[in-house]
Amino acid sequence: MGKERMTVLLSDLEIARRVKELAAEISREYAGGKVTLVCVLKGAVVFASDLMRCLEIPVEIDFMAVSSYGSETKSSGAVRILKDLDSSILGKDLLIVEDIVDTGLTLDYICKNLLSRKPRSLKVVTLLDKPARRKVKFTPDFCGFEIPDHFVIGYGLDFNEDYRQLPGICILQPEP
Ligand code: IMP
Repeated sequence: MGKERMTVLLSDLEIARRVKELAAEISREYAGGKVTLVCVLKGAVVFASDLMRCLEIPVEIDFMAVSSYGSETKSSGAVRILKDLDSSILGKDLLIVEDIVDTGLTLDYICKNLLSRKPRSLKVVTLLDKPARRKVKFTPDFCGFEIPDHFVIGYGLDFNEDYRQLPGICILQPEP
């Protein structure tokens, strides 16, 4: 730590406002039913906990962890399940909650894996989307913010496990 420069991209207030809007949209989509949130650990944990408290429909939550960038800021492309869901998703309406879509490889893998378990429906909400870096075709059903191609931290997102506790989202740049 200490050799990076941080610039605020999204403040905690901007995020809170957008999370409420997303929750209203999602509540309308699942009105009359129940949604099972699949929170992708660890990055999405802050977003999922804020989002679920704004939803106006019955909610269940389960957690899944997949291998991510490790100590690098570029995706290796290989995805592996580190922690699987606790419960069966057969016949359920699933909403995957992700922090950020970058290359799309992680969500492409998770969606294919979960669809093979026959949920009733499967949709994805991501707080952030970096469409410029896509390696596979992937479009989230709900998206908080499209952002440019920068490495970001805060609000659950980390760099080498640091900075997850920042209330807003910041761009992290190495000191020149
Ligand atoms: P993808 O498979 O390339 O779409 O990457 C998805 C995962 O990479 C996310 O769930 C994050 O854990 C991580 N990631 C991608 N971009 C960033 C970033 O800018 N900051 C922190 N983590 C990121």
